[in-house]
Amino acid sequence: MRAQAESPINFLTLHRDAVRHRYYVENQDRDPFYDSTCGAWIIGNPAHCKQIIASSDVRPGTSDCAADYLTLSERLGIDFSPLLFAFGHIPLCLHAEAHQRSRRQLSEFLAERKAELTARIPSIIAQRFEVMRHEGRVELMSEAVVPMALDVLSIISDFGVSAAQCENVSVAFDKLIGMSKRRRVSADLSKLTDLIAARLGPEASDTDVGSRLALLVLGRDPLVGTFGESLHHIFKANSGSCLSDIDYPDLPPQTGVPVVERIVTRPFRIGECQFAEGDRLRVHLQSFAYAADARIRSNFFGGGAHTCLGRPLSMDLWRAMTTLLSNSPLRITLLSSSRRESDYVFTCPQSITVELGR
Ligand code: HEM
Repeated sequence: MRAQAESPINFLTLHRDAVRHRYYVENQDRDPFYDSTCGAWIIGNPAHCKQIIASSDVRPGTSDCAADYLTLSERLGIDFSPLLFAFGHIPLCLHAEAHQRSRRQLSEFLAERKAELTARIPSIIAQRFEVMRHEGRVELMSEAVVPMALDVLSIISDFGVSAAQCENVSVAFDKLIGMSKRRRVSADLSKLTDLIAARLGPEASDTDVGSRLALLVLGRDPLVGTFGESLHHIFKANSGSCLSDIDYPDLPPQTGVPVVERIVTRPFRIGECQFAEGDRLRVHLQSFAYAADARIRSNFFGGGAHTCLGRPLSMDLWRAMTTLLSNSPLRITLLSSSRRESDYVFTCPQSITVELGR
């Protein structure tokens, strides 16, 4: 059943559109439907999203990235080898055994860094969120959230990552960008790969370099976006309150990874909808935030074979940050915010300006 979307909503931009909050609340029980603008089924019912990401009858849409760039490269004669190198180490871009191998490598790699990360989290949070303990005006994204994420990624990757070095790397997953942006992200990834290789020295293997690169690509925007969106959500709802009076949720209440794509590998049904092999599904993980069932709300880190490997680290950071905020006696007022435009993959505030006072 391929009913056309009768809604005027643009499902390519819903994840960052202001109408999204109402849309998700009002469409929780909706069955999947086909949207011809996206050329994909739209899944906005949180229970269906949970079922699909755990399913073994689908593969990530990102697993086509390498093949797409290879075709472009052959057709246009452009060298996209830096992107192809990155895709070869990012588990979300790999199938079956290659996925399992790369996931295992990243998991072992993160386990080796766990002790250092755990030891450093309190000081990173204390240093980067120190601005929240003083009266005055603060721009939260550039003064706290982004520097915090870069500190963490610098420990993971073994070298000092600056904002400029990995600002645009996750654009690699965006299938809607033009050729000049594709060339730019390829050039950025090439520079980043060279920096990592130079830092590690000639003994380093492709896996040593690729694992660090993969974690930079997969870690930055989800972390920055989820913390930014969640802090914005909390401070908007509590503007005028003392930071210490706010009831901070155990889990980030919003996500920077609003939607993931899946491609059907084995036909299956949900309700009246029959999905055929090759169908594309846009799974709106952001709908979890609005689920009536609290158990479903904790699925922002995905599920099944591709469950996020950065979840424990992100949760440690969230707990440390909310503990610090709940110990500040200052009153917070949300002054303004702006969102990152032209992003079809992540959700992320560009700026969140707050005033802190007594
Ligand atoms: C709060 C922040 C984060 C959120 C909300 C988040 C969310 C997600 C989600 C939804 C997926 C699955 C995507 C899919 O199924 O298509 C995923 C995968 C992944 N994430 Fe995260 N992530 C976060 C932070 C991080 C960090 C900091 C790292 C690395 C240090 C990381 C590493 C990974 C990896 C390696 C995968 C791929 C797993 C695989 O394909 O097997 N994530 N993340």
